[in-house]
This record gives sequence, structure tokens and C-alpha cells, in this order.
Amino acid sequence: MDKERKLIIAGNWKCNKTVAEALDLVTGLKRELAAVKEVDVVVCPPFTALESVSRAILDSNIRLGAQNFGENGYGAFTGEIAAGMLKEFSVGYVILGHSERRQYQKENDALIAKKAAAAHAANLVPIVCVGETLLEREAGITNQVVETQVRGSLAGLSPEQVERTVLAYEPVWAIGTGKTATSAQAQEVHAFIRGVLTALHGEAVAKRVRIQYGGSVKANNARELLGQPDIDGALVGGAALEVRSFADIIKNSI
Ligand code: 13P
Repeated sequence: MDKERKLIIAGNWKCNKTVAEALDLVTGLKRELAAVKEVDVVVCPPFTALESVSRAILDSNIRLGAQNFGENGYGAFTGEIAAGMLKEFSVGYVILGHSERRQYQKENDALIAKKAAAAHAANLVPIVCVGETLLEREAGITNQVVETQVRGSLAGLSPEQVERTVLAYEPVWAIGTGKTATSAQAQEVHAFIRGVLTALHGEAVAKRVRIQYGGSVKANNARELLGQPDIDGALVGGAALEVRSFADIIKNSI
């Protein structure tokens, strides 16, 4: 697949995998994906497996991401993980504003924007998630919701920082449900998001931002989704937990 932007496919392991299971999974991925150069491959294990996974992928083309971090850095913030702690394990990416955190931890756009700025300051690439619920889609307000999230979550970032940010469009109704947005539905929102980025920072910046799709991405729908002009990768949940399915998503997208 020949695209203007390099594809980025990330596995969001969510709250899954012991250290031993994590090592099994990355060892298999390393073997399967050793020859892949066309796609940026990222795995995002839970915090507890970052150190071992980081060692296991040292000599590979797989990069490491975290699923969240504490935007205030080191200090009296019980339960938080600072960016500096992630950097110790060569973490390069951090998922921010996932709909599960928006829902269960009540994260909002203002907090996500603060985290995105702190991530850039620490040289971590934020993967900022946006997406509408089923109710919002049925009410015909998908674009409105997504625009508010994009503008709010990127507020205060410089054009250079926005350019290095990865966005992930994840319709909430497609996450873990087996219901994927059709490639046309996804492309429509991705193009809309790129339009919002153009309005914010101009076409040159908007053209460089990679926008992933997430929500029930599997080996059998990856090619069609990633073949769309404004879809630049995938954020994969369930199918990223097994070597075969995650490796096949990547191979099928090349
Ligand atoms: P599923 O691939 O399990 O639908 O999860 C998508 C997701 O939330 C990735 O962040």
C-alpha cells in the first residue's frame, strides 16, 4: 500500500497480560514481524510489563507505548506514573483520552490537552483518541462531537507538536463489539478530522498528521480500512492480544 504518511499500527493491550504472557506475545511478534519496515509497529502493554517488554524488543522494529501517564511529573501524586519513569524503559508513545478513560476515569478534553502537552515536553508521542457514542451517532452529531474533542484535546499545542501527534478515531460503538465502522463511514470521519486540523493549523500540518482507526479492527477488515486515503493506521484492542491476529493485521495492511 503506497501512502503519503507512514502507517502506524498500535496494539492497545488494555488491562491484560501478566509479564510472562506479555513476553510470550512480543517474542512471537518479533519473529513474525522481523521483516516489516513499511509500518510503524507499536505495542502498549500495561505499566507492569513495560520493563520486560522493553528489554525483549530492544533489537527489533517494534516500538513501545504506554496507556496513560501522570501529567504532573515526579512528586506527591499517589498512584501516578511520570513521563520520566516511562522514558527509563524507552517508551516512545502514550495513548491519551481513550474512551474507556473518558468514561471510567472521567477524563475530559482539558485534561487530555494538558497530558498531550506534557507528553510532547517529555518527547513522548501522544496517541490522542476521539470518537462518538452510538447515541451521538444516531442523533446525527458525530462531526460535532469529534470536532469538539479534537479541538479540546489538542488545545495549546504548537503546530509542530500537532504534526507529531497521532490521532485515533475510535467510534465508541465499535470498540470490543465486533461492529466495525464501514470503511466509508470511517473515511468520512477521518477526512472530517483532517479538515478540522486544516482549519486549526493549515493544510501542510494537517497532511502530516497520522490518524488511526480503532474499533474491532481484525485481520479480515484491516486492508479495506487502511486502504482509505485518510486512514493512516490502526489502534487495535482485542486482536492485538494474540500473535497471529496482530501480525496478520500488519501483514494485510502492507
Ligand atoms: P477492539 O479492537 O477490541 O474493538 O478495541 C479497540 C480499542 O479500544 C483500541 O484502543
